[in-house]
Amino acid sequence: MSDRIVSPSIKQEELALDLSLRPKKLAEYIGQAKVKENLKILLEAAQARHEAVDHILLYGPPGLGKTTLANIIANEMNAAIKITAGPSIERPGDLAAIVTNLRAGDILFIDEVHRLNRAVEEILYPAMEDFALDLITGKGPSARSIRLKLPRFTIVGATTRFAMLSAPLRDRFGAVYRLDYYDLDAMKTIVARSAKILGAEIEPPAVTEIAQRSRGTPRVANRLLKRVRDYAQVRADGKITEAVAHQALALMEVDELGLDDIDRRVLRTIIEKFGGGPVGVGTIAAAISEEADTIMDVYEPYLIQLGFLDRTMRGRFATRRAYEHLGLEPPDRIEQNRLL
Ligand code: ADE
Repeated sequence: MSDRIVSPSIKQEELALDLSLRPKKLAEYIGQAKVKENLKILLEAAQARHEAVDHILLYGPPGLGKTTLANIIANEMNAAIKITAGPSIERPGDLAAIVTNLRAGDILFIDEVHRLNRAVEEILYPAMEDFALDLITGKGPSARSIRLKLPRFTIVGATTRFAMLSAPLRDRFGAVYRLDYYDLDAMKTIVARSAKILGAEIEPPAVTEIAQRSRGTPRVANRLLKRVRDYAQVRADGKITEAVAHQALALMEVDELGLDDIDRRVLRTIIEKFGGGPVGVGTIAAAISEEADTIMDVYEPYLIQLGFLDRTMRGRFATRRAYEHLGLEPPDRIEQNRLL
């Protein structure tokens, strides 16, 4: 699972290198022009007023730079950042322990913010809105509620599933930004920048080759680059030429659109086992022994973006393009499916 090029998270040992590849300032951050511009205004305005920034929600597919942006926000604001994730905050007391240790202006980054449980969410509302913590002490008739004042801090929430956020939580974020897959130009700039930081010698056509196969995702680009660099070192003279990049990527079974073995298995399952669809994601997951969440978060968004997959109320359908990409003959009735 963790050895894949496309995966939802970062391997522990890769973290140090990944951190060095991540931009620290907004000016170094490539792509996502709209988000960057809005964020710049938000941060500058707060700085000028000497206030903590409003709570920020970042959403979009994994690997596009949500954590990177949270760190940049802290950096730009000269603020400390505490990092946590929805599933790690199990009880209201866990959240209370975190927020009572924050100082004014601090950033609290909550990854997978859609996975906070209800009890925790309930105490988060007044914490976000009024910077107050409502604690219950004692039990039964002697139970009392006390209100604790908190410093003005900023929550940066991140999620891959915007729709799973409850409306009250969504409403408490003053700024909501959607990150999208990067275009080819941005991906090329990111690959070239990362190669420079890694000290890898790379020819421009090899930069393009890696950028094209990185599914618009910097995390994937950085992983591919590192594996191609390994290949160049072991099988060639260390220089990443177009031919070297091509061979390395072929060996990793990443095709020219960036699809890997799992993407192809998802599509083949829909087409070959379920007549092109409709089929539920749970069934696809079981058929290929994958987690449904991983398929929904990591694989489907890119397949949908490519126009290879349709997500409907009745289930998933493979599109004509998917058949063509896999070199399979599409059935005549496929257009009908798309209308449903
Ligand atoms: N590394 C990962 N994401 C990046 C981005 N958006 N800009 C520059 N380098 C990155």
